[in-house]
Amino acid sequence: MKIVITGATGHLGRLVVEQLLQKVSPRDLAVAVRNVEKAADFQERGIDVRHADYEQPETLRTAFEGAAKVLLISANEIGKRFEQHRNVIEAVKAAGAGLLVYTSILNADRSGIGLAKEHLATEELIRESGVPFVILRNGWYLENYTENLAPALQYGAIAGSAGTGRVAAAARADYAAAAVAALTGEGHAGKVYELPGDAPFTMSELAAEVSRQSGKQVVYNDMPPGQYRELLVGAGLPVPVAEMLVDADLGLGRGELDRESGDLGRLIGRPSMLLGDAIRAAVH
Ligand SMILES: NC(=O)c1ccc[n+]([C@@H]2O[C@H](COP(=O)([O-])OP(=O)(O)OC[C@H]3O[C@@H](n4cnc5c(N)ncnc54)[C@H](OP(=O)(O)O)[C@@H]3O)[C@@H](O)[C@H]2O)c1
Repeated sequence: MKIVITGATGHLGRLVVEQLLQKVSPRDLAVAVRNVEKAADFQERGIDVRHADYEQPETLRTAFEGAAKVLLISANEIGKRFEQHRNVIEAVKAAGAGLLVYTSILNADRSGIGLAKEHLATEELIRESGVPFVILRNGWYLENYTENLAPALQYGAIAGSAGTGRVAAAARADYAAAAVAALTGEGHAGKVYELPGDAPFTMSELAAEVSRQSGKQVVYNDMPPGQYRELLVGAGLPVPVAEMLVDADLGLGRGELDRESGDLGRLIGRPSMLLGDAIRAAVH
């Protein structure tokens, strides 16, 4: 009986696999991936690599065979995810897995952010499936803010429509650790964990931290949503992506990416990564 990880060739999934290997033998792991060539390194390390495309249910029929536990890392094609997740949930149920862990979004049941809809619908399907579950309502990744600092440093400004709202972000490695805890620990079945990072920050605080760490003056430039949308489209983003980012920023401004909760620290046994540490690593 194995632990099967989906999305293992993605950013979060790779961190989950690495952290799981600290706890379990590669023989007890399988990855269910869209592109098996991207998982060649896993195979070399003795992990069972299985083909699983959420759009091709026939691949899912074999991907979860013998699974004791499955981590479903939410897919990344917005608007298609509900059907994709449904295919996975049906296959996991048919395989008789004893636990399904799902990466959802913070405040999924009360968030007005458009992205939350597919997550909440997926959570409902999981409950209806009857498969024992753990829902990990992840906050925003710190990497959303640290992976693309070049324009901020070039223009001396971070743009957005988040106003003075706070985002309780944590590192992907923290969310990987939470997934590993849910997969390997006891007593998590049936739980819905809200996983904000420990130290929420505003966009002005983000800009101040970037200034401090880089030595370059960077300010937060708050703007009306229409103007932010135009700026993102002008910078080359596809319209739906620009609209998703604007919508998320407005949700951030309403406080929907923040929350009081100690769940993340309790799951991972340490504080989550702080913004300052993440920015320091990114600019040095
Ligand atoms: N909390 C946040 O701030 C935040 C930010 C961005 C995304 N997310 C969500 O969190 C998830 C994990 O984040 P991440 O950074 O690891 O994303 P990522 O690097 O884009 O990884 C997504 C993974 O899903 C796999 N996948 C997508 N469509 C699939 C399909 N049809 N069949 C099988 N596998 C499929 C991808 O496979 P390939 O390797 O073949 O592409 C990839 O391994 C994302 O997918 C998204 O739902 C959260």
